[in-house]
Amino acid sequence: MNKIIIANWKMHKTREEAFSYLEQISVPSEVVVKIAAPFTLLSELVIPAHKKQIEIIAQNMYAEKQGAFTGEVSAMMLKDLSVQTTLIGHSERRHIFHETNEDIQKKLERAIVEGMHAVLCVGETLEQREKGLEKETIEQQISSAIEGVVQADQITIAYEPVWAIGSNKTPEPETVNDIHAHIRQILEKYFLEDGKNIPILYGGSVSQDNIVSFVDMPNIDGALVGSASLALEKFQALLNNVKDVSIC
Ligand code: PGA
Repeated sequence: MNKIIIANWKMHKTREEAFSYLEQISVPSEVVVKIAAPFTLLSELVIPAHKKQIEIIAQNMYAEKQGAFTGEVSAMMLKDLSVQTTLIGHSERRHIFHETNEDIQKKLERAIVEGMHAVLCVGETLEQREKGLEKETIEQQISSAIEGVVQADQITIAYEPVWAIGSNKTPEPETVNDIHAHIRQILEKYFLEDGKNIPILYGGSVSQDNIVSFVDMPNIDGALVGSASLALEKFQALLNNVKDVSIC
């Protein structure tokens, strides 16, 4: 399987910045690249990104079909822009915007019912890790969220320890590899044979310097990259490094 790299631009980039980034980026054919762009950029970026073999995805969506929910965006609205994939339950949604496992389950279910693909983000806090509760936490986050998901090919999992996001601290690649094996077991328990094919990505302070140590691991199918995806030179270097791993 080609490695999957998702850039998460979070609340960054004007139209001009985004267009110039897309114009200059060069995607190696051995790497699957997606960009989680802010809502304001989605509609204009889908086509130019497609020409570069990049899928534009959303960072969030709301669980209800439609209605009086000021400020929210529905799955139907995303699909209307040809956006077929969204992140769900990113750590910043959980911790800054207080989304619960229940909210995330509803969003995931809506995305699935609407025929979208969802990248479900899970991960433990530092406190949970210090208490040795990381596997338990992740298991709870995944099993509560995928209740109601029937098709394994509609989800990707991104394991992002909360303490590693934007902190320049990362777990050892071997530790991530072990956690991914645990996630795989959870997925196989639920989806049986189909659980084997669900991509499991790592996220949290991934950079051009450490990406190879992660994607070299057999259980790590790719990465979700925040700050190192903002400056094109850094992200391009990261992609080129992933390409070298894929070719070996
Ligand atoms: P980071 O963010 O790469 O800046 O740590 C990752 C993420 O939040 O998805």
